[in-house]
Amino acid sequence: MDHVNIFVKLGGSFITDKSVPDSLNGTRITTAARAIRKAMDSSARKGRRIRLVLSHGAGSYGHILAKRYSAVDGIHPKHAWESLYKIRESMARMNLLFLQRCNRGGLFPVTISPFAIAEAADGVVRRLDIRSIQALLEQGQVPVLHGDVVLDSKRGFTIASTEALLEALSRRIHFDRIVMVSDTDGVLGHDHKTIPAISRGNIKGLFDAIRGSHAPDVTGGMRKKVERLFALLSRGRAGSARILRCATNGENLTQAVLGTGGEGTLIE
Ligand SMILES: Nc1ncnc2c1ncn2[C@@H]1O[C@H](COP(=O)(O)OP(=O)(O)OP(=O)(O)O)[C@@H](O)[C@H]1O
Ligand SMILES: [Mg+2]
Repeated sequence: MDHVNIFVKLGGSFITDKSVPDSLNGTRITTAARAIRKAMDSSARKGRRIRLVLSHGAGSYGHILAKRYSAVDGIHPKHAWESLYKIRESMARMNLLFLQRCNRGGLFPVTISPFAIAEAADGVVRRLDIRSIQALLEQGQVPVLHGDVVLDSKRGFTIASTEALLEALSRRIHFDRIVMVSDTDGVLGHDHKTIPAISRGNIKGLFDAIRGSHAPDVTGGMRKKVERLFALLSRGRAGSARILRCATNGENLTQAVLGTGGEGTLIE
């Protein structure tokens, strides 16, 4: 069967309250999972299988701890390797809840722990072993990644955001579509209205309206997300990217995964 590669991230801002530790919104995850399931089924019925890599941000599980321990910089002068344990423990708990909530929405996702397959050098993800991701995709299964702490040859360890992992993964898998679910209706402009599309023509003028995050986010918030996605698309490593908020009925997410909807911000 013909297939299409799609990367979906459920942002930490959408699935947690980023300022409240360990605050997972299970209902939102299940709604999103159901919307994705619907898109996969609908596409398969039309003879085109969706190969899906699903992912989630660290939200209030990873970011608050990573900030407290300056974990992007690696080994802490006082706490040494303690943050590696704390963040891994927190992400493992979050990820299990995430899987269970996705399963209620009709998915059977399997986590490939980024810690185990990725390695960074001075804060940049340099190695990503994608064999198990590929194998699951070929079998029609749904691998899951998430923002994580990873070993770093210079710093001991560092933080790899979902977007950084996507960048590394995109060197090997060409995603036809990237969909990122956020707590805003997309990327907001100077007037706080959603910017419908970002491209080479308008990105420069928009950048001072796009900031980091209002909540703890050690990997650059919305600004870094748009920068990374834009760089990825400019290099031809993915087809298009859409950032949106998943509606209560999930319909706009189903459309975004199918590539038919127009909500949120399209980056091309
Ligand atoms: N122009 C903008 N449009 C939209 N959001 C913006 C803008 N400028 C800053 N932001 C902030 O960026 C946040 C989204 O980025 P953030 O990294 O916090 O979310 P996330 O990637 O979903 O979370 P996580 O990193 O945990 O997955 C928004 O909640 C908002 O606070
Ligand atoms: Mg983020």
